Amino acid sequence: MIVFDHLSKSYGHSDVLAVDQLDLTIPSGELFGFIGPNGAGKTTTIKMLTGILTPTSGDCFIDGISIRKNPMEAKRMIGYVPDGSDLFDRVTGIEYLRFIADMYDVSEADFRTRLDYYLDLFDLKDAAASQIRSYSKGMRQKTATIGALIHDPKVFILDEPMMGLDPKSSYLLKEEMKRQCSLGKTVFFSTHVLEVAEKLCTRIAIIRHGKLAAEGTLEELRNREKAESLEEIFLELTGEGEGENE
Ligand SMILES: Nc1ncnc2c1ncn2[C@@H]1O[C@H](COP(=O)(O)OP(=O)(O)OP(=O)(O)O)[C@@H](O)[C@H]1O
Ligand SMILES: [Mg+2]
Repeated sequence: MIVFDHLSKSYGHSDVLAVDQLDLTIPSGELFGFIGPNGAGKTTTIKMLTGILTPTSGDCFIDGISIRKNPMEAKRMIGYVPDGSDLFDRVTGIEYLRFIADMYDVSEADFRTRLDYYLDLFDLKDAAASQIRSYSKGMRQKTATIGALIHDPKVFILDEPMMGLDPKSSYLLKEEMKRQCSLGKTVFFSTHVLEVAEKLCTRIAIIRHGKLAAEGTLEELRNREKAESLEEIFLELTGEGEGENE
């Protein structure tokens, strides 16, 4: 479970809140989509959730553990795929994944089983022995995804995960996200691909100027906004349809 509790962030000395009093609870077993226009605060929220950024105020909880008070304990439960995967260049895929597994105290047997499963799933078996500097963007993204899953986290967090993936890899990742969800894990991801959010998510939140604009199942959002598609709902709630009028 993920809880955002009055979460706010301003960068530097700015008065502007990139994330503004965000309150949101995401129970285990949800596949939760986080959508919003460019600059709405999605990445900032995710970076606070993963302990990379310190909130200006408020907190995030993973299964009741505060990321601010007990960052190590909270981070153990998180698997995180950032937007744009900056990996070490001069190690092989396997060396990188072993390093991650060692950091999380994954046993050799579990490491082998999961490595086999994911390298096979993402078609990286042949590339895994090569240095990461020889990988394409998509291969890096898939390696980062395996790195995020190698310790079997309770909470799987992804920032625009479909970016740079080919159709097959994108499909496989979506299936894996569903599988994690069916195992009772919490999956939380940001995306600009509304069709993906529409098809994949059990619940969706729309964020605008750092504030929660709406949250619910697609059905709930449709009824509330009296609109059919998520695109219509999105444009309506983010004011992108008629231009800004504040
Ligand atoms: N390092 C930073 N320093 C100062 N301001 C920042 C920094 N990172 C983000 N911001 C600002 O915070 C706000 C939210 O940015 P954020 O990256 O969280 O948006 P986003 O929803 O992830 O957008 P995108 O869809 O483009 O990825 C924006 O106004 C942005 O300019
Ligand atoms: Mg972002």
